[in-house]
Amino acid sequence: MLAVMGPSGCGKTTLLDTLAGRMRGNIKTSGALAVNGHGTSLAFGKAAYVAQEAQLAGALTVRETLLFAARIRLANLTKPEMDELVDRLIEDMGLTLTANTLVGDWAIRGISGGQRRRLSIAVELITSPQILFLDEPTSGLDSAAAFHVLSCVRRLATDERRTVVAVIHQPPSEVYALFDKLLLLSAGRTVYFGDAPKAMELFKTAGLKKDPNMSEVSPERTSGARNPAPPASPVAAPLPLPQTD
Ligand SMILES: Nc1ncnc2c1ncn2[C@@H]1O[C@H](COP(=O)(O)OP(=O)(O)OP(=O)(O)O)[C@@H](O)[C@H]1O
Ligand SMILES: [Mg+2]
Repeated sequence: MLAVMGPSGCGKTTLLDTLAGRMRGNIKTSGALAVNGHGTSLAFGKAAYVAQEAQLAGALTVRETLLFAARIRLANLTKPEMDELVDRLIEDMGLTLTANTLVGDWAIRGISGGQRRRLSIAVELITSPQILFLDEPTSGLDSAAAFHVLSCVRRLATDERRTVVAVIHQPPSEVYALFDKLLLLSAGRTVYFGDAPKAMELFKTAGLKKDPNMSEVSPERTSGARNPAPPASPVAAPLPLPQTD
């Protein structure tokens, strides 16, 4: 699991869109895209992308939403196979108690914000993607709900050996601890790319205060796009990046 972090406007969504092949044709990109070292194109079913504000139909229940997505995307499955797949996703994403609750919208009272996020992720998991891109899956959630959403994702990543790349804003320390790697961006450039637990050590050796809570580090320390950091900033200056595999 890779966390992509950095201040607003630093290019997190742009990077995610580029990796997921969502950039429009008239946008020029450079560099090579490889998965596990092999050049590849992320064809349908291989990768899935959950946008920050995923659209869900308010008048459907959680189960109906998943069945609808399964019918559209996996039309070759039989009804019992679809039911089994949907039941498993509902269980995996911790939605059993709300399976028959309406999703809801501004007019209909429905499932909670955290449940919406988990449902949006479940909808994209229908095709069993090997790589899952998540743009801010926890923004707007409290730390307990954020932890629940990402623990479900973490379980899938480890049990089913999927790669997860998630843009994440100010994660509480227990959410940050769920990630293996961190990519920290500032004004479109890499500040850190390596093991997530080692990031704090590195910042400490670079003279930055070790902060027990990641949510207090990111915006102030790495601000680049909205408040350009002075050249002498210890974060904006190149850091001795750790060896990565
Ligand atoms: N179509 C576009 N034309 C010009 N500039 C753009 C376009 N799309 C994005 N940008 C700019 O690129 C920069 C990076 O945007 P991006 O959406 O990747 O930021 P972000 O890190 O995801 O921010 P946030 O945390 O607010 O979502 C921003 O300065 C944005 O204004
Ligand atoms: Mg964004």
